Amino acid sequence: MAQIIDGKAVSVAVKEEVAAEAAKLKEENGLKVGLAVVIVGNDSASRVYVNNKKKACETVGFQSYEYALDENTTQEQLLDLVNVLNRDDRVNGILVQLPLPAHIDEKAVINAISPDKDVDAFHPVNVGKIMIGEYAFLPCTPAGVMRLIESTGVDITGKQCVVVGRSNIVGKPQSMLLLQKNGTVTICHSKTKNLKEICLTADILVVAIGKAKFITGDMIKEGAVVIDVGMDRDENGKLCGDVDFESAEKKAGYITPVPGGVGPMTIAMLMKNTLTAAKQQNGIG
Ligand code: GUN
Repeated sequence: MAQIIDGKAVSVAVKEEVAAEAAKLKEENGLKVGLAVVIVGNDSASRVYVNNKKKACETVGFQSYEYALDENTTQEQLLDLVNVLNRDDRVNGILVQLPLPAHIDEKAVINAISPDKDVDAFHPVNVGKIMIGEYAFLPCTPAGVMRLIESTGVDITGKQCVVVGRSNIVGKPQSMLLLQKNGTVTICHSKTKNLKEICLTADILVVAIGKAKFITGDMIKEGAVVIDVGMDRDENGKLCGDVDFESAEKKAGYITPVPGGVGPMTIAMLMKNTLTAAKQQNGIG
């Protein structure tokens, strides 16, 4: 039976570290770390995420600046706001909540965010830096996954790592991070043949494919570390992950639950990135 990786507890530890550093920045440098969160339209899931980000800012002692824009906001208006925030010294990090309404080009907006303030690490400059291992910011979800793997005490060096999913936000950067930690990395996706056989080789299996209970116990190597990035609904409408937890926990050595695994880590890592941004912008090591 697998040990459950408690993402909530690890995320609390990360936020405590960030809060302690933020307090030090305030005391020693008179700096209050600021995060601007921009939301366009009325998507209810986005609203929940944004509220959670604001709450996390309060928990760690950051100032949050919320910009809730009307659904009909034009791309030009949004780009103007991003430019104002780029120049605002109180704002150390800028997060534009995705998805944006269809009439706005997400790429244009991401590209407009100053790479120094891009705490999502979505800007091509920051994506490129991840490839060469010279990054300031790591995308929040893959960074959270790395921290969860670290919490198990399992050393990634030389391990077979399989990432299921190849999105720009999770799968691709996740693979790079595992590679940097000396894992032997295989990336699988919806067109992969022999998925089961490949998953069965994994000492570390990270699943971000967006399909409910897609990975089952018979696809998992005995004792593997299984990290489930999914946020899906099962046939009864209940929140579940991309991994069939019930069968998987019988095979895995360590496993993340959904909810309470990767989810809480994403926001904690966002706080960490915002702190890093504030330090860098003020020349503090
Ligand atoms: N929408 C869902 N997840 C994210 C995220 O990590 N960052 C942003 N900006 N939008 C999101």
